[in-house]
Amino acid sequence: MTDSGLRSTQWFGATGRSGMAHRSWMRSQGFTTEVFDGRPVIGIATTWSELAPCNVHLHRVAESVKRGVWQAGGFPLEFPAMALGETLLRPTAMLYRNLLAMEAAELMRANPLDGVVLLSGCDKTTPGLLMAAASVDLPAVMVTGGPMLNGKYQGTDVGSGTAVWRFEEDLVAGRMTQEECAFAEGCMARSNGHCMTMGTASTMASMAEALGMQLPYSATWPAVDARRYETAQRAGQVIVGLVRDDLRPSAIMTRAAFENAIRVNAAIGGSTNAVIHLLAIAGRLGVPLSLDGFEALARDVPTLVNLQPNGQYLMEDFCYAGGLPAVMRELADSGLLHADAITVTGSAAGANVADAQCWNREVIKTVTEPFQPAGTGTAVLRGNLAPGGAVIKQSASSPHLLKHRGRALVFDSPADYYAVSNDPDLDVDEDTVLVIRYCGPRGYPGMPEVSNVALPRKLLLRGVRDMVRICDGRMSGTAYGTVILHVSPEAAAGGPLALVRTGDWITLDVPARALTLEVSDEELTSRHARWEPPAPHASRGWTYLYTEHVMQADAGADLDFLVGASGHPVPKDSH
Ligand code: FES
Repeated sequence: MTDSGLRSTQWFGATGRSGMAHRSWMRSQGFTTEVFDGRPVIGIATTWSELAPCNVHLHRVAESVKRGVWQAGGFPLEFPAMALGETLLRPTAMLYRNLLAMEAAELMRANPLDGVVLLSGCDKTTPGLLMAAASVDLPAVMVTGGPMLNGKYQGTDVGSGTAVWRFEEDLVAGRMTQEECAFAEGCMARSNGHCMTMGTASTMASMAEALGMQLPYSATWPAVDARRYETAQRAGQVIVGLVRDDLRPSAIMTRAAFENAIRVNAAIGGSTNAVIHLLAIAGRLGVPLSLDGFEALARDVPTLVNLQPNGQYLMEDFCYAGGLPAVMRELADSGLLHADAITVTGSAAGANVADAQCWNREVIKTVTEPFQPAGTGTAVLRGNLAPGGAVIKQSASSPHLLKHRGRALVFDSPADYYAVSNDPDLDVDEDTVLVIRYCGPRGYPGMPEVSNVALPRKLLLRGVRDMVRICDGRMSGTAYGTVILHVSPEAAAGGPLALVRTGDWITLDVPARALTLEVSDEELTSRHARWEPPAPHASRGWTYLYTEHVMQADAGADLDFLVGASGHPVPKDSH
């Protein structure tokens, strides 16, 4: 074996009993001895699981990656990483994002790997694996699994997630029958892939591409498109080159790359969840990023992409219109992209998209004639109700509610609210501000996507379709409504949200970026003195570790002891 200087040679090039053990057991899989000749060993982290339907095809994607790795002279080894399925995991997949990040990082570091390909899809798997790659800082390429084909129901396109909210409202309001709803379920998710709206999965796939961590066009090829598999094979070739060039995530995910991602998120009308995930990834890399930085960077960027839940189209349409490179080229041509940011292709972001074409201006608009004007994307709010900040997705909100004053109707959990939401005598009208709290990282725990509670039935029956809601939890990227999210500090941490009482006046002024509880400081101090923190959720296990160490939303909700990186030193021998 030649000593290539790669970390894997410390396993497979070792002499004596230890080296024999490392090689012999690998040979039980039928590999010939050439695989131990000092070539790059590439791990393929697969978040495949039948319990995570959005990722269920990643096993097949991995086969394409392997082809590319073999072609380029590497040795591919697939390994499972925690599959976080958004739809099934309770209390929320977000509770486990940091666990995936920790598990994947430890597996990368403890094994004889020189580089990794990260296979993700569903919402938390993309940020979780990027956080892991940032912590370990081995050369890495991401391949997301791609969106589902467009949903089709009664002759119209229906978006996963987005349509669910509408179907539920239509059912409650009597516009749809139970049978129609059951039929629509099957029409909405009709192929492999992740949600095909511009929800969190599509957003984070786009963020991975904008950060330079996945190949151009990777975010948008549908999961069942042959080009998804071609791109995966190309990624297998690319990772071997990245190992040879020692081009690592810390050199790619720089401050400039994050600024590109934030602007791209504004241009695609991406999910509010991108804010939390990008903060967490940046934290692992030591890249300074703050909520105010998001606000400042995104404010000049118009929304270019006309996709649900903000707009009309779906990811399949976005793909055929030119995909993310067409958006990035538009930003680059307008001076809104750091064109020199290096990417996994080995080329700069600007060069990658220099020839990108738009084939459908209904789907991808221009900076001069945008879908929505600059400054109307995700906004960061401040005020005595959210000293650490809160966010609102303006494009998913009702314009008439962006400046609003109303009386609070307060609930300590979504369950408390739903227990009375159908009550015809509920003291609520369209001006009421619904406050749903104890839904933050510590409070729920895990900060679930429960903030956009369905409207009270009596208002739905009167035709009301939106009202202001305030919560310390998150909202699905597929959802819509005038919902103030990620209020920080959360109620469970003793933030002012815990002190609101039913009947208090609340003022929302999104143009001024302000959220105000009209209660004096003296009264709030007095209420805080009488506030009692909720009982802990757990005394052992992951939930205990999580609730003891999770940071607030404005810091990315990572665990405090995982901020920063541990690198990839070769651990002590095991035998
Ligand atoms: Fe997996 Fe939407 S549920 S991406």
